[in-house]
Amino acid sequence: MKVLIIGSEGMLGHDLVDILSKENEISTTTIWTLDITDIEKTIKTVKEINPDVVVHAAAFTDVNGSESKKDLAYQVNVIGTRNVAVACRETDSALVYICTDYVFDGTKGTSYYEYDQTNPLSVYGKTKHLGEVYIRDILNKFYIVRTAWLYGFHGPNFVTTMLNLAKTKNSISVVDDQIGSPTYTVDLAKAVAELIKKPAYGIYHITNSGSCSWYEYAKEIFEIAGIDIEVKPVSTEEYPQPAPRPKYSVLENYNWKMEGFEEIRDYKEALRDYMKLL
Ligand SMILES: NC(=O)c1ccc[n+]([C@@H]2O[C@H](COP(=O)([O-])OP(=O)(O)OC[C@H]3O[C@@H](n4cnc5c(N)ncnc54)[C@H](OP(=O)(O)O)[C@@H]3O)[C@@H](O)[C@H]2O)c1
Repeated sequence: MKVLIIGSEGMLGHDLVDILSKENEISTTTIWTLDITDIEKTIKTVKEINPDVVVHAAAFTDVNGSESKKDLAYQVNVIGTRNVAVACRETDSALVYICTDYVFDGTKGTSYYEYDQTNPLSVYGKTKHLGEVYIRDILNKFYIVRTAWLYGFHGPNFVTTMLNLAKTKNSISVVDDQIGSPTYTVDLAKAVAELIKKPAYGIYHITNSGSCSWYEYAKEIFEIAGIDIEVKPVSTEEYPQPAPRPKYSVLENYNWKMEGFEEIRDYKEALRDYMKLL
């Protein structure tokens, strides 16, 4: 298949290129070659490539920064995504849109199914959610892939942040009342490669299985790394951040399993594999 990856220089984008290129003919764009906020250029670029599938992994991903840079977050995540969807309609390409657990408010208390009510709390979550809405309005052939807590080799992430902090600190405080599923970008990219083989369009939750708090995640990272450091659990109130985050945003990978795909491996196993290669 001919696959266009938009946002190919991002953390996930890099792994999408590596993995999807094994079985597909790949084209890529980066912010330097295609700014998705430009509708004419987006349509022109997608038309020239004329792909079977577009994987849209570009976004304004600074969750805290989105609170103060609302317009930029809106331009990229809403208008940019609308533009990509319009371009896909012109070429009749299927679209994979990478979305987030932050479309939920986290008050359900148990894992979120694809059919659960969305209610984003932050500007980032709201803009990513509106991206979904545009796609559903504009296209018939789409896979909306909600994922969470990504880490990978090609971008800053929680794992590298923790390991860097441990170089200069003996003690770290980490939030213990937000629960989610850390997800390895390589595992997500492999899942996307499987997904696009079937015209099983719709909304998917795709994360590594298992869940933890940021505190438990940090403890696991230091245990794997063999680093002896004090990790103190703190509440969200004790560690205020500009963007509100859902307290419990574990995503039930329900549609994924209903379509017959294999459960994605446990986050601890994926984390160990990733850290071996750091
Ligand atoms: N990271 C997470 O924990 C997480 C969790 C759930 C969902 N997601 C979603 O997963 C996807 C990939 O995330 P990621 O962590 O790989 O993000 P990332 O590393 O920040 O990559 C996003 C890419 O989009 C590019 N970009 C920004 N504005 C653009 C524009 N106007 N036109 C074209 N490209 C633009 C960025 O370029 P610059 O770097 O030059 O700005 C960057 O290369 C995103 O849709 C994100 O919302 C991420």
